[in-house]
Amino acid sequence: MPLTIATVNPKGGTGKTTIAIHLAVACHRSGYPTKLVDADPQGSALDWRKRTAEGYDGPPVEHVHTGDSLTPHVAGADVVVIDSPARLDERTGAVLSVSNLALVPVRPSGLDLWGTAEFLDVLREHLETTGLKAAFVASQRDVRTTLAEELEQVLSKEGLPLLNGFTSRVAYARSLSQGETVLDGGYGGTAADEVRALLEDVGDLLS
Ligand SMILES: Nc1ncnc2c1ncn2[C@@H]1O[C@H](COP(=O)(O)OP(=O)(O)OP(=O)(O)O)[C@@H](O)[C@H]1O
Ligand SMILES: [Mg+2]
Repeated sequence: MPLTIATVNPKGGTGKTTIAIHLAVACHRSGYPTKLVDADPQGSALDWRKRTAEGYDGPPVEHVHTGDSLTPHVAGADVVVIDSPARLDERTGAVLSVSNLALVPVRPSGLDLWGTAEFLDVLREHLETTGLKAAFVASQRDVRTTLAEELEQVLSKEGLPLLNGFTSRVAYARSLSQGETVLDGGYGGTAADEVRALLEDVGDLLS
C-alpha cells in the first residue's frame, strides 16, 4: 500500500490544491515514485498538469470522477497525494479512509475552522478508529508575522500538530498558473525552502 497524504478542508480556498501540488512535486523530485490524485470534480490539479511542459519533472495526475471509487487510484506509486474538494460528504470520509495523513490547510485568520465543527468530528472519528494521522498546515501566512495567536488558540484545542506551511506569496499562484511550481526556476528561493520544509515536516509526522 502506498503512503497516502491528503489535503482536506471543506472550506473553499484554504490552499488544498496549492499544497497538494507542491508537496507531490517535491516528493517526486526527492526520488519517491509519486502520484497526485485529483479527487475534486473541479479538476484544478489536473488542469495544472495539463499546463505543464512536455517532459516536466513532476508526478502523474489522475482525476477521480464524481461517484467513482478512490481505491483503484491509491496504487501504482510509493506516495499518493490526494487533493480533495471543498465539501463535506461521503467523499470526505472516503478520502480519510484511504489516507495515512490528513493535512488540513488553514489561513491564520482562524475563520477557516469556524463552522467546521462537523468536519472536525468526522476527522476525530477517523483518528480514533483508524491509523490516520492529521495536522493543520498554515496556509497564506503573513510573511511578517509568526503564526497568529488566534490561530494557535483555535487549533491547540484540537490537539493536532500545526505545521508552518506556506506564507502568502504570489509565486505560489503565479507558478501554478504557468504549469510550474515554486520549485522551478525564477520564483525565488524562499518559497521553495517552505515547500522542502513542509516535505520534511510531513516525513517527520509519518516516521
Ligand atoms: N501560499 C499562498 N500564497 C498566495 N496565494 C495562495 C497561497 N496558497 C493559495 N493561494 C491562492 O489562494 C487561492 C486558493 O488556493 P487553492 O486553490 O490552493 O485552495 P483550495 O483549498 O484548493 O480551494 P478549493 O476549495 O476551491 O479547491 C488560489 O487563488 C491560490 O492561488
Ligand atoms: Mg482546490
